[in-house]
Amino acid sequence: MAILVTGGAGYIGSHTVVELLNHGEEVVVVDNLRTGHKQAVTGGTFYQGDISDRKFLDSVFAKHEIEAVIHFAASSLVGESVQKPLDYYENNLIASHALVSAMIDHGVKKIVFSSTAATYGEPKSIPILESDVTSPTNPYGETKLAMEKMFRWSDNAYGLKSISLRYFNAAGAHPDAMIGEDHNPESHLIPIILQVALGQREAIGIFGDDYPTEDGTCIRDYIHVMDLANAHWLALEHLRKNNTSDVFNLGNGTGFSVKQVIETARQVTDHPIPEKVSPRRAGDPAVLIASSEKAQSVLGWKPQYNDLKTIIATAWKWHQANPKGYNDK
Ligand code: UFG
Repeated sequence: MAILVTGGAGYIGSHTVVELLNHGEEVVVVDNLRTGHKQAVTGGTFYQGDISDRKFLDSVFAKHEIEAVIHFAASSLVGESVQKPLDYYENNLIASHALVSAMIDHGVKKIVFSSTAATYGEPKSIPILESDVTSPTNPYGETKLAMEKMFRWSDNAYGLKSISLRYFNAAGAHPDAMIGEDHNPESHLIPIILQVALGQREAIGIFGDDYPTEDGTCIRDYIHVMDLANAHWLALEHLRKNNTSDVFNLGNGTGFSVKQVIETARQVTDHPIPEKVSPRRAGDPAVLIASSEKAQSVLGWKPQYNDLKTIIATAWKWHQANPKGYNDK
């Protein structure tokens, strides 16, 4: 039986496909390639199409015996979601509704879901626990939380078992640099810093240095994309063995400020990486750090890349080998 990966041509999806293939899983990838890259799909069977297209989904479910779905396909930019909330309701919630209905109709009852720390909103305490209040501050987090809830109610009504994985800041690339991060336009901190080191940008703009943190810049919990990928496989195994719905945070449990990330990137790249302070970006919480103890104890997850320098080094290897991202491939 096969595992259907929606959004498998995206950043975290493509790394998860590699992890699944390494574990001998049969993989079917669907992606509309609006933000994903065909070259990022390194194996399995690929179909280009949209999960909101029911006929397309039915054809995929008819061609393959699908055991479970790992669901990444979504719009995922916080700022954009504030500008275009209806796109987020459509691409995230309504599209996932189509996916779940197709799953139920085809008797597929297991889903691992790509959720986010943005479901919590401004945290009340650090580190963040899965039992903490979820109060998103943008449509991206809001739609991801609504999707989590749709899966839970679908468990109640149809027996759909879901594991929602709330990632903190995904970073890094496959250690062989065969796949990596490539967004257009790029908005994430580490790839932008590395574009400065590659000479593609003059300086890194720091979004605010007046936060209530030690050096005044925002603190985030950076987690390697291969560790995230491994957590998806463990979640799948957990569903196979226990068949119970649950939610898990995925982070390293250690926070780094924007300035610390820039300094570490200077060490990794041996480039001065000029910085300049610009205004705060709307909606950025000062500190986001995960407690991932639940994932470690229940799923047996153990992040391998718990050192920021190594995380950035894998990203640097990818960016150096592919300075134009997948356009170099
Ligand atoms: N930052 C800068 N300059 C930049 C880009 C980012 O200073 O050019 C700062 C941001 O203000 C933030 C930190 O670097 O403090 C990290 O920013 P990213 O954009 O890389 O990541 P976010 O923390 O904003 O977002 C991530 C995921 C989202 C998810 C969110 C959860 O990318 O999908 O965490 O809160 F929703």
